[in-house]
Amino acid sequence: MAVDGKIALITGANKGIGFETARRLGALGAVVLAGARDKTRGETAVERLRSEGSDAHFLHLDVTDPDLIERAAHRIAERHGRLDILINNAGINIEWPFNVPSEVSVKQLRATFETNVHGVAAVTNAVLPLLRRSAAGRIVNVSSEMGLPAWLDGSKMPAITAYSVSKAALNMLTLLYANELRNTPIKVNACSPGFVATDINDGVGERTAEEGAAIEVRLATLDADGPTGRFVTDEGTLSW
Ligand code: NAI
Repeated sequence: MAVDGKIALITGANKGIGFETARRLGALGAVVLAGARDKTRGETAVERLRSEGSDAHFLHLDVTDPDLIERAAHRIAERHGRLDILINNAGINIEWPFNVPSEVSVKQLRATFETNVHGVAAVTNAVLPLLRRSAAGRIVNVSSEMGLPAWLDGSKMPAITAYSVSKAALNMLTLLYANELRNTPIKVNACSPGFVATDINDGVGERTAEEGAAIEVRLATLDADGPTGRFVTDEGTLSW
């Protein structure tokens, strides 16, 4: 799909994979709305994007804050009248490097779900009326293989419990949105960027943020005959 002039909101765009996604979409000609919960960091990121030639704009957006979400949606409506691409990229892992289920606390579960699941539903629902105004709305939920039962079944990997469970919930949310919106032009998919060196894993991932961003960009720019309700990685489509 041609990206030029598309209005794209990326949550958690101030750093990591979200920043690289914003950068790539900006380079392709999208109007980039860079969501960030921290004003200074968000504005600094946007300055960098603009200095590279992107039509980027800072949007103050903490995905756990209903007032900021409502204000952000209102601002997009006022300034652009529609939204073409929503990338739910913001996510947290407060248990790195592992946390077995017998030790997870309700506090960790609540905090993780608040951002990784509730935040996605809240932002998506706030901007869905604007995505419905797009000729080709695209929603990309940035998930993880850690949330795929089929991938983890029998795995000897150490558990990261609240994170895994939150991404499993996000996967189901993706599928439910895709089903609800199947008779519209809006496509909803989940992706994994792979194991990327960012702050979420203390920089020990194997891929660069730029490499991780590629799948977000690919799903954000799917053609009309592209998939919906799928979990996609650079290696292909994985089974739920
Ligand atoms: P990161 O820690 O560098 O970036 C996370 C971003 O989310 C930051 O911009 C942060 O400010 C933002 N964020 C966190 N809570 C927020 C909130 N309440 N409101 C708004 N923004 C918030 O990590 P990374 O790796 O760039 O993560 C991006 C996404 O990729 C996450 O959803 C993560 O779960 C996912 N992912 C990352 C993998 C990796 O190996 N790095 C692997 C699989 C998935």
